[in-house]
Amino acid sequence: MKLSIIGTGYVGLVTGTCFAEVGHEVTCVDNDEAKVKMLQAGGIPIYEPGLEELVRKHTATGRLRFTSSTADGVENSEVVFIAVPTPPLPDGSVDLSFIERVARDIAGAMTSYKIVVDKSTVPVKTGEKVAETIKRYSKTKVEFDVVSNPEFLREGFAVEDLMRPDRVVIGVSSQRPVAAMREIYEPFDAPIVVTDINSAELIKHASNSFLALKISYINALSVVCEMTGANVMEVAQGMGMDKRIGRRFLDPSLGFGGSCFPKDLSAFVKIAEQTGYDFGLLKEVQRINAAQMDRFMKKISDTLWVLKEKRIGVLGLAFKQNTDDVRMSPALEVCQRLLKEGATLRVHDPKAMEKAKALLPPSERVEYVADMNAVAEGCDALVIATEWDEFKRLDLERARREMTHPILFDGRNLYDVAEMEALGFIYKSIGR
Ligand code: UDX
Repeated sequence: MKLSIIGTGYVGLVTGTCFAEVGHEVTCVDNDEAKVKMLQAGGIPIYEPGLEELVRKHTATGRLRFTSSTADGVENSEVVFIAVPTPPLPDGSVDLSFIERVARDIAGAMTSYKIVVDKSTVPVKTGEKVAETIKRYSKTKVEFDVVSNPEFLREGFAVEDLMRPDRVVIGVSSQRPVAAMREIYEPFDAPIVVTDINSAELIKHASNSFLALKISYINALSVVCEMTGANVMEVAQGMGMDKRIGRRFLDPSLGFGGSCFPKDLSAFVKIAEQTGYDFGLLKEVQRINAAQMDRFMKKISDTLWVLKEKRIGVLGLAFKQNTDDVRMSPALEVCQRLLKEGATLRVHDPKAMEKAKALLPPSERVEYVADMNAVAEGCDALVIATEWDEFKRLDLERARREMTHPILFDGRNLYDVAEMEALGFIYKSIGR
């Protein structure tokens, strides 16, 4: 089918590319001319495993093209996807101005029946507003349908999640767009759930909040484990084998971050508040998440006492592995807090060093180190802040030799406690 995607951020670019991969003809639209030029020239603005190859492949097959004109995208497609940012406002609610703007642009460009699909994460009832807006601003008064089709991809696994989704959610207000939506998703061979628009919009916020809740649950448990001498990894394994619970998203950490969970939680608390419901459960999820970072920092200062003039190596800057995204990254927060306490840092990330430099500029007190095994050199302590697989293969003998003190704070539980102690490290992890 002929599809267009407005917005080539994470969701838009990966969705458009995967649609091209299964045979659709896709026009990706972005108002950032520089980005469009970069994509047209075969460049990729983000790191996402497998994406670059697919973008190249389908720019060559001609099934994927980029333009900065919304009218071009709308004219050349039967279905128009909206995948623009919905950033948080200072009070935690969602800024819907990009969505509103795109709705007006689409309205102005429509000359025949279109299905307008919202993929951005939006508060419940946004679909109704989008429909109202298109109706108001449409010059030709042609017919259209609005559909909600939330995206569940994880950064770092976006192509994989898109090509093999657990489910596809399609929220509609009439049956007319259902057949086309089924046709678009048929090649992905996933269960399709058709709901009303409000329910589809809620499924997204409810899912992300639930996953965040799962992480806060295991993080809260990690505190109880520390108090009682239990091992949170064993508790997670034992719980996770119950199919009703599942092992995934039970990895204790220094808290969740990224551009989705913190934002979506605040938004959902606000949405509930606006309906008159106080979602105290989710506020507690946020509180536990903040406390988890505080506890980790306290472990560092309890062990090293004064941080001023201490040299600390930090492994990981991205908010999680397999991405170069540092937005709301707990790893960066660790760096910033250590700096505030007067420490000097040697930092490394396999992919996120360039993006991190904007938020953590290199200086006399922040040295970016290209080789992960060289980070420990001359350090009083080492911190693992992101769960990159390669950090499980650090040259620990070398680290111990080159550190002034072999102290390792592991915010991701990548190593075995007994093995680290046998190697001569003072090893502090989470919930063990
Ligand atoms: C999330 C949702 O998973 C995805 O479905 C949605 O579309 C967008 O938001 P993403 O933000 O890319 O995806 O990352 P995710 O893998 O969910 O991790 C979020 C944060 O939670 C990261 O900081 C990660 O390190 C942390 N996390 C995850 C844990 O601390 N423990 C876990 O067990 C899992």
